Amino acid sequence: MTAEQAKKRVVWLGREIRASDALYYQDDNPVLTDAQYDELRRELIALEAEFPHLILKDSPTQSVGAKPAGKFGKIKHTVPMLSLDNAFSEEDVADFCARVRKFLSLKKVDPVGFTAEPKIDGLSAAIRYEHGKFVKGSTRGDGQTGEDITANLATLDTVPMQLSGAGWPDVFEIRGEVYIDHADFDTMNAAQVASGKAAYKNPRNAAAGSLRQIDPSVTASRPLKFFAYTWGEVSAPFAETQMKAVERMAEWGFDVNPQMKRHETAQEMVAHYIEIMNARAGLGYDIDGVVYKVDELALQTRLGFVSRAPRWAIAHKFPAEKAITTIEDIDIQLGRTGALTPVARLTPITVGGVVVSNATLHNADEIARLGVKIGDSVEIQRAGDVIPQVLRVVTPSDGPAFEFPTECPVCAAPVSSEIDEKTGKQDVVRRCTNGLSCPAQAVQGLVHFVSRQVFDIDGFGERQIEAFYEKGLIKEPADIFTLRARNDEIKLETWEGFGKTSATKLFDSIDTRRNIPFDRVLFSLGIRHVGKTNSRLIAQHFVSWDKFWAVVPHLQNPVSDAYMGLLGIDGMGQAALGSLAQFFASETNHQIVADLVDELDVQHAEVPTSDSPVAGKIVVFTGKLELFSRDEAKARAQSLGAKVSGSVSAKTDYLVAGPGAGSKLKKAESLGVKVMTEDEWLALIA
Ligand code: IVH
Repeated sequence: MTAEQAKKRVVWLGREIRASDALYYQDDNPVLTDAQYDELRRELIALEAEFPHLILKDSPTQSVGAKPAGKFGKIKHTVPMLSLDNAFSEEDVADFCARVRKFLSLKKVDPVGFTAEPKIDGLSAAIRYEHGKFVKGSTRGDGQTGEDITANLATLDTVPMQLSGAGWPDVFEIRGEVYIDHADFDTMNAAQVASGKAAYKNPRNAAAGSLRQIDPSVTASRPLKFFAYTWGEVSAPFAETQMKAVERMAEWGFDVNPQMKRHETAQEMVAHYIEIMNARAGLGYDIDGVVYKVDELALQTRLGFVSRAPRWAIAHKFPAEKAITTIEDIDIQLGRTGALTPVARLTPITVGGVVVSNATLHNADEIARLGVKIGDSVEIQRAGDVIPQVLRVVTPSDGPAFEFPTECPVCAAPVSSEIDEKTGKQDVVRRCTNGLSCPAQAVQGLVHFVSRQVFDIDGFGERQIEAFYEKGLIKEPADIFTLRARNDEIKLETWEGFGKTSATKLFDSIDTRRNIPFDRVLFSLGIRHVGKTNSRLIAQHFVSWDKFWAVVPHLQNPVSDAYMGLLGIDGMGQAALGSLAQFFASETNHQIVADLVDELDVQHAEVPTSDSPVAGKIVVFTGKLELFSRDEAKARAQSLGAKVSGSVSAKTDYLVAGPGAGSKLKKAESLGVKVMTEDEWLALIA
């Protein structure tokens, strides 16, 4: 793959994964199978490894999950709740072990222990104990902030209200997985159907639905269980190894997984994985892989984390499940950016206990690559939850080839694919060319605007937006904020589905969102490449909206200070900046934003601070480091807010030089850069 192709694929993968994260984490309504999701993620990770300059700041590999849904209170995790990287093959496992050893600069003869245990397919929860008493509990949420589900967790028999035994730290936050076992799931679903309610798709969805009940008595009636496997904030260390820590958790009254074992080689780990995979059907609960963790906790601390996942653990996933079915039809769905996405409608088929009836075909190229037609019998793949993938045609039908529409199925405007300015190549995604004049794009843009990650307006979903849009009452974001003032003519309380109370409630929730952080306003505009992360970077750069607004007119001039200033933001790419400039080049867009901001009270951006003396400093390591591997030294520096560079320049603050330092040392000396030894560096950051 060329760098250009990779770039498009990376953007596409990121978008797909984020959309799926939002559905998975916020709506408990996944559309991709776990395996398909993993496949996308794996492809993205591989591409990012091959083309590191393509790692986007808002890449899903750089963050976990999505913002919490909002109906529960929020709990900020004092220790972030991270995710795990995945391994799919023996080779991946061997690589993981080798990476760990290299990072720790271990010698061939130094042993390292790894634990292996089932990866439970449930929902993670964090539960805090103070002086042995249950205090509160939360979901993972986006990893930084979760939902307060204290009352619900308190109803679980496997969550003790008082720890047993002795020796627990005063503050002890245990983490693990909430799940429903197979036998309980069957009983619960039978009762659910008998009472006229829809059956849950699988135990994971049932557990999610049960755990996030507003009324804890409903949760209490559901057969939820909790397996403990890790911890968050603790006031004192309580074990030296993962094995011992889990043993102690069992002594204190938690269920821990009996399949956990310690190994010393990748071969042993994989053998255990196969053993667990073979035992899978008989375990009585869903698992979707095996988790390996470095056993020694001191080594875990040294290994630390890389953005969303620890370096000391990995999830070895089970292979996806496959099945053969027929494509009954191919529909085209339209997204916010006008992208036309083909979706295969399948003859429903059960794959691993879940009925599957849709699969994404991604784009016209994918249809051509697979050679799929309506009527074909195809092999599909899923594991876990969400939209399955079509792998190949098994028996082609004799029908005609699928013709990808050349017109937007919604507004009939011509469809085109973007041409990359640099390479002249065509993008695989075809888009409706009608912009916001296409009703589907306009509505999707507004749906994005009110969605949880953006303006988060309660009670405003796709249905409501469509209704207001069709009546011509909301055409652009500012219109949302003038609804209340226009209600004399709108009379929302008389609409079907709205009473006086719900109308007032909607207007109130709109009003509460007038006071809004800067980055959300920017993100709300749906400018291509200006996602959540770039919006935050820009907001942090300008701090106030007014300062940003003042430079907007200069964006059209790429040599202006304003433009150069934006380009200098660490992590901001040309693509985002070009797209921002293009957006504001339109007089209409400029006016739409001005109208919107008139209705708002935009908060200043919060700029993160670190109190380490090396925060914000540029550091270069050279020569042989004797105490740490280069990777470990770099990771430590970055975690303290320093920037690690590979080359010395006048901007370099410190050069940490070990034995054998050569040209970099000379250059630093000639530039008057402060040079220090590894010991001096350690003293500085201690
Ligand atoms: S350890 C720092 N162990 O899998 C991360 N996670 O895909 C520590 N999970 O967020 C997690 N079984 O919700 C760990 N035995 C196990 C697990 C497990 C299931 C979940 C957990 C995690 C997710 C990552």
